[in-house]
Amino acid sequence: MNIAIDGPAGAGKSTVAKRVAGELGMIYVDTGALYRAIALYLLNHAIDGDDEQAVEAALKGIRIEMKHDAEGQHILLNGDDVTGNIRTEAVGNMASKTSAYGAVRAKLLSLQQDIAKENDVVMDGRDIGTTVLPGAEVKIFLTASVEVRAKRRYDELTAKGETCDFDRIAADIAARDEQDRTRALSPLKQAEDAYLLDSSGFTIDEVVAEIIARTKAA
Ligand code: DC
Repeated sequence: MNIAIDGPAGAGKSTVAKRVAGELGMIYVDTGALYRAIALYLLNHAIDGDDEQAVEAALKGIRIEMKHDAEGQHILLNGDDVTGNIRTEAVGNMASKTSAYGAVRAKLLSLQQDIAKENDVVMDGRDIGTTVLPGAEVKIFLTASVEVRAKRRYDELTAKGETCDFDRIAADIAARDEQDRTRALSPLKQAEDAYLLDSSGFTIDEVVAEIIARTKAA
């Protein structure tokens, strides 16, 4: 059984996917972390994300592995656990830019498909229902308005004690959406057979319950 959850940044995919996986005894796979690990390598090696050829050339030096244990997912970059290092805005922006390149996507495709072949997974990303797992039994396209997503991010950062600007966050989210939606390869798009779930007016519990009900009915 595989559940594909796609949608824009900040829609609540990871929170919801993690909960669904926990309740159904499945493995949660965060595919954005894979793109982030590549982005971290590029930043660490001062490679220009706008230079597609340079990014492609750098891929030879990158080995990504994914491990899952009781704590959840770990991402190894050339053997180092970078799970905690990939959660910055700089890494996210670099990942958004470089995930548009075919060579980057090709490098990560079989890694994602293999884990879904061997396990029951709840996988979240942008192109899971359309490209990575087109045969997934349950497909959800989870979205929320830019304002709601910006507010969630704002609250998250403020809770961590970081100072931030709401308008700037909203503008970044809108720009990231545009970049993810308009790229030529595997753009962020609802699969034809995916269920559109707008989480703007719902609690996490409600969204989780809806996905679990759909999975049980599948
Ligand atoms: O979900 P996230 O913010 O961690 O993802 C980081 C970037 O990776 C995002 O801007 C788009 C890209 N991504 C992708 O192209 N395909 C996926 N399946 C997951 C993420």
